[in-house]
Order: sequence, then structure tokens, then C-alpha cells
Amino acid sequence: MAKPFIIGTFNSGEFLHAGQKILNEGGTAIDAIVAATKQVEENPKDTSVGMGGIPNIFGVQEMDASIMCGKTLKAGAVGAIKGFRYPITVAEKVLEVAPHVLLVGAGAEFFGKAMGCELGDLSTDRSREVYQAFLDDALEELPDDEAFKPYIIEYVQKQNLRKWYDRLADDHHGTVNIMAMDSDGNMASAVSTSGTALKFPGRLGDSPIIGAGNYCDNRHGAAACTGRGELAIRASTARTLVGYMENGMTLEEAAAQCMRDIHNLKTPGGMNCIAIDREGNTISATTRGDRESYHWYMDVDSKEPEKRIGINVPE
Ligand code: GLY
Repeated sequence: MAKPFIIGTFNSGEFLHAGQKILNEGGTAIDAIVAATKQVEENPKDTSVGMGGIPNIFGVQEMDASIMCGKTLKAGAVGAIKGFRYPITVAEKVLEVAPHVLLVGAGAEFFGKAMGCELGDLSTDRSREVYQAFLDDALEELPDDEAFKPYIIEYVQKQNLRKWYDRLADDHHGTVNIMAMDSDGNMASAVSTSGTALKFPGRLGDSPIIGAGNYCDNRHGAAACTGRGELAIRASTARTLVGYMENGMTLEEAAAQCMRDIHNLKTPGGMNCIAIDREGNTISATTRGDRESYHWYMDVDSKEPEKRIGINVPE
């Protein structure tokens, strides 16, 4: 069996230390990935996860998160939630106590409050500035009250929603994927995001959709996605990657095939994934040819996070 380890996506691997510490102390994969995800969620410099996430077109930060346990195949996910310091902890509570897998919006917020999840304002000067810049660009004259919202809708209509979204979605997205294997050989995977910047209110990406942006099964492996979530939803990317391994592909073959499946959708937008197999191999992959694919790795003996280069699967 592989040494306990944790991997993740982000521009630095520092956030993995919190998860590695838990694994070193004999803790579970679930506890390790939650600890590491919280580190990213509370980092205000990241504008696509938790604190500092870029808001939707109404200026509201709506967060998506999910978590899955590879031993039990239990999962918890929340979509479009506002006002929680650590969205991943609300998803974890869904996994632990709810008879459901996915809660969204007001119901998810009610549930999170009832569970005592920590509340918090996730806006920062930077997230407010980006939104203001959008408004300045979107509207020649911004009415100074709540009535401005219909003007934004009108803007979106005039600009052609689809074209507008295609422009924004690939430049302004980001998500954190974290997965781990513990000393019992159990795996778990977590995803957290504020979704595409300036998204339409109520839009859910792949991150809270189990099977699309996140999937984990001790018997075969785990996979999670970043990139334009609509593509991973349509291709069921995370579950499919694990299923390809179940049906005999290697980790690399499965990741590459999932990226080809995204190309087959013939829709603009990039997709990336990270994945592990039950032997403890790790990989990252991207549909893009112009950007390095990488992930960060730490096992219980690592002093520092190791940057592992993945594969590019351009069209
Ligand atoms: N992959 C994150 C999102 O599309 O929201």
C-alpha cells in the first residue's frame, strides 16, 4: 500500500502542510483534505475559492463545494451558498449527517447555520474592485440603487449571454481540488470554488456535482476537475475517469481519455483534472496545449510540497 499522501491543485503547495500534518498523526483522509481545503478557502489572494472569490453578476459571492469518501462512497455537496467562512465544512456536514447529497442556496445556508458552521464575509477589497470594474464596463450610467440589477440583465442580453460567458469563463475561473489516501488506504476528495467570475446567479458548475467535478472510490481511485464546469457536467468527467480505471485503463490513459472526451463536446472552454489510483499514483491533465499541467504532492515523509508535472492533451 502507498504511504499516506495528499495532492492538490493551486498555484502553491503550501496549503498541503495542514493535511499532511493530520496524515502524519494517523488522521483520516477526510480530515486531511478538509484541513487543506480550509487553508485555500481562507486565503484572500486566491480570487476563485472562498475568501476573495469574485462575485456573480449581481455582486454576490456564491460558493460551491463537495466532498466524497472513497470507503463508504458517501458524499456531501453545497451549491450557491453565501456567507460561510469555509464552504467545504458545510459540504462535510451534508456528508456526515444529511440524508441528502446536494443542498443549494437558502436551504443549504439554513442547514449550515443549523450545523453551526462558521459564518463569514468572504468579500475583499480585490473582489469588490473586480466587481466594480465589471459594472463600470457593463453600464454607462449605473443607477445608484438596487434597481440596477435589471440593467445588468439587459447588458447580458445585449451582449449575447453565451458570447459573454465564453469570454469570461476561461479567463476568470479557478477551483481547488484536493485528494488524499490515509494509513488505512482510504481515499477522499474535496473541491471548493466560487465558480466562474461574474457568473449568472444560481449557476452551479461541476464542483458540487458528484460525478462531474468530484468522485472517489477506494476500489479504483479518485478524480476531480477545474476549468469550465459545464463541460465536466456534460461529460461526467470525474466519475468517468474512475470508471475508465475500473475497466482496465491506467491512470494516465484514463485522464487522457477524459480530456479527449471534453474535446468531443466541441464547445469552447478548457478543462483540467487531477486523479489518483489505488496504488497511490497521481496525475494531472489539461485539455490545453498552452499551459503547464501540474499538481502538488506531499506524503508523510515530505519536507516540502513536490510539484508534479502532468500531461497536456490538446485537440
Ligand atoms: N470548475 C469550476 C466551475 O466551473 O465552477
